[in-house]
Order: sequence, then C-alpha cells, then structure tokens
Amino acid sequence: MTEVTSIDAELAAAAAAVHSHAPGSAGPQDKPQIGLVLGSGLGAFGDELSQLIKVPYDAIPHMAQSTVVGHAGNLCLGRVGEVPVACLQGRVHCYEGHPLDRVVFGVRLLAELGCRAVLLTNAAGGIAEGLSPGDLMLIVDHINLMGRNPLVGPNQEPYPRFPDMSRAYDVELCHSAREAASRASVELREGVYVGVLGPSYETPAEIRMLRTLGADAVGMSTVPEVIALRHRGVRVGALSCITNLAAGLGGELSHDEVKEVADRVKGAFTNVLREWVLAAGAMVSKVEG
Ligand code: HPA
Repeated sequence: MTEVTSIDAELAAAAAAVHSHAPGSAGPQDKPQIGLVLGSGLGAFGDELSQLIKVPYDAIPHMAQSTVVGHAGNLCLGRVGEVPVACLQGRVHCYEGHPLDRVVFGVRLLAELGCRAVLLTNAAGGIAEGLSPGDLMLIVDHINLMGRNPLVGPNQEPYPRFPDMSRAYDVELCHSAREAASRASVELREGVYVGVLGPSYETPAEIRMLRTLGADAVGMSTVPEVIALRHRGVRVGALSCITNLAAGLGGELSHDEVKEVADRVKGAFTNVLREWVLAAGAMVSKVEG
C-alpha cells in the first residue's frame, strides 16, 4: 500500500479549501486542465480570466505567501476561451527563506487540482548574445545551480525516486508555444535557463562562467517548480521575459528595471500566453480523449 505522506495530506487539505471556495472546480466540467504560474508583471492575466474565482493564498492551508513586490498572492480559477485553468498569481522563491517544499507547494497544488500541463513564466537576465530586454525566450532546457532540489528527502510514492529530466520541457508544448507566438505576431527566442539562488544579482565573472556553461538566461525561480512537476508526470512549458542584460553586459541591475521592462512587455506576453493556453488545452484534451 502506498504510504500517505504529510505532503499528500497537506495537498488534500489545500485542495479541499480551494474546492470550498470554488465548488465547480472539483467537477469534470470546470476542473482545471492547464495550470499557470504568473511571474513578475503578469499577475493581471489571472484577473482577466472569464468565470474568475480568486482564492487568496492565506485562505489555502500550507500555502506560503510571497514577500516580493509585484507578486500578488492568489490562486485564480477560471477559463481562457473554453479551457479551464488555475493560475498562481505570484510565487514564492528560495531566496525568501522558504524551505523548498513550500516553494513548490503551489505547483503541486495545481497538479492536485487536476492540471495535466503547467505553463510557467518568469523574469530573467539575458546572457546569450543577441538577447535584449523585452525579448521573450522559450525555455528549452535548464541548469540547476540553486544548490538544492525539491525532491531531497523521502520519496513521495508512487512517483519515481530518480525522475528523468532529459525532456523536462515538453516537446509538444514547446512546439505550441512557437505557434502561439507566431499567431500573436511576437518574436520568440529560445534558450537554456540557469536557476540561481539569489537574491543578489550575479557578478560579471559569474555571468561569464554561466555563459561558458551553456546558459542563455539567468533567474531565481522556475527550476524547483519544473522538477516537482516532472516528478508527478505533469507536462511543463516555460517562458522567460528577458527584463535586463545580465551583469557585466549592460548597466547596473535593479529590481525596478526588471519590473519596468516586465510591465512594458506584458501586453505581448499576455497575448502569447493566451494563445499558448488555448493550444495546450486542445493538446491535453486530445490526449485524454
Ligand atoms: N539575474 C537573476 N535573476 C534575474 C535577473 C538577473 O539578471 N533578471 C531577472 N531576474
């Protein structure tokens, strides 16, 4: 018999709280199919869902609150077109001091609520030549330099102890992101994201090292979420908004600049995301038949 872990119990309690706020979300019609994690500047996407029900994180047991300016704390349930979705409006980061099981609790909850695919978004510094602030980059692979992994500890059965990460970013979801960008007339770059702990930005020497290691963009989120989701067999896609040139490649870095650029691109980003959700919803329902 599979042992019920405390994470299972916490997820069940959190899902029950969500269902009590949004009773339909437990039923087959409105159960969310696609999950989203809305990073810096993209929170408004959650507010624009049709049939929106907002559940504040503090009404969800075991859900940590983000302390970062620009990250609201709500789970938004609703629809994009006909596709039922659940959005995390704001995330928590390792650098806020949360243990990793709190950092990934939100995405595990998306899986618990029924999401078969999750689309993650973030802000990142551009390392690769030719990336400029304002560009959107499809993440095709990552490098985990956060010095930690959310799966450390007893394994959560029945999920694998050693999950394969060779295709962490779903090939079909990547394909549909390219099509979504083209439909939204937005140019989409592609590259490898390196996750670092933060919260200090990198030094120019670190950026030269990261470039040598094969990184195209750098950020302080996403990697633990991707690992936790792949562990559960959830399909993953991720998009970075390049908000700045990485350290040493431009001027000085500031969170204000990150927020300002994320804000400037949010129209284009939102258009791509909307098209992507529609495509991902069609993909997931085709698989489930
Ligand atoms: N480095 C790390 N994280 C970031 C950056 C950066 O340059 N920009 C946005 N998030």
